[in-house]
Amino acid sequence: MNIIKRRGWEISESKVTPEALFFNRRKVLGGLAAVPFMGSAQAAVNAKFADAGRAVTPEEQNTTYNNFYEFGTSKSISDAAQALVSSPWNIAIDGLVEKPITLSFDDNIRKMQKEDRIYRHRCVEAWAMVVPWTGFALKDLIALAKPKPEAKYVRFETFNDPKMAPGQQAGLFSSFPWPYVEGLSMAEAMNDLAFVATGAYGKDLPKSMGAPLRIHLPWKYGFKSIKSIVKISFVAEKPMNFWQAIASNEYGFWANVNPEVPHPRWSQASEEVLGTGERMPTKLFNGYGEFVADLYKGMEKDPIFF
Ligand code: MTE
Repeated sequence: MNIIKRRGWEISESKVTPEALFFNRRKVLGGLAAVPFMGSAQAAVNAKFADAGRAVTPEEQNTTYNNFYEFGTSKSISDAAQALVSSPWNIAIDGLVEKPITLSFDDNIRKMQKEDRIYRHRCVEAWAMVVPWTGFALKDLIALAKPKPEAKYVRFETFNDPKMAPGQQAGLFSSFPWPYVEGLSMAEAMNDLAFVATGAYGKDLPKSMGAPLRIHLPWKYGFKSIKSIVKISFVAEKPMNFWQAIASNEYGFWANVNPEVPHPRWSQASEEVLGTGERMPTKLFNGYGEFVADLYKGMEKDPIFF
């Protein structure tokens, strides 16, 4: 018998997907995602509200309104990002592991058991989306990597290729500390919610969203969700992340969504829900506190907590 156990944080697909599509979709679960969010069905999907009181953000909006500074500083980097050569793609795993390995996206990552997850995404610039991802739990990748007990943090790195990525070329933003780096504590990385996305809207991940694989951490500000990962290192010390290296007064390591701690340039009390024209109150941990708050017990007074 095939019993699907729904986890507490899941936004029910029946609430965001038109019924016919939903039932057809259940039949194909197990393989790479079929066509759940495409074409004329999109409008119907958008009209259905998720548990969060929000619709799935239209695919067109999600793939063309991005932050991907390797390809420029505007939100319209989608055309420039087509220069990203996302195949073949390797991910080096090193640091405090039993044995450093290199994974091939086609040979190893594509074979991971995939699942679909619909997550809220909240940028520190106070805009939000709802994204239907395909991928797998980060802890499954960590199991492959076999970190040693001394590993306390995970450090992620994006490619550094100025020929491909104009944002990395010498010039106006040449002082940026490329490559883009992000980090998590091991406990955060092992949390059920931490997700490696390889697809969105039932297709392979578009280049603008970080092909061929990125992280998504729905309880943290979006800058933690690093795109187009080429290296994962297990380390003893807290890694310095890209934005913190640029402006430590604006960006911290933990970066958990918190309506009560304003960013110097953006109040975090509310957020614009893209595609709806609405502003909604922001929730602590982006509404996922039930599943992640324990990770931060005793750290509430830490000035870099959020
Ligand atoms: N990853 C890399 N490599 N480069 C980036 O500029 N921007 C971050 C994050 N990951 C970024 C990145 C920020 S600020 C956000 S809000 C999200 O990606 C945006 O993801 P999206 O474009 O899929 O919405």
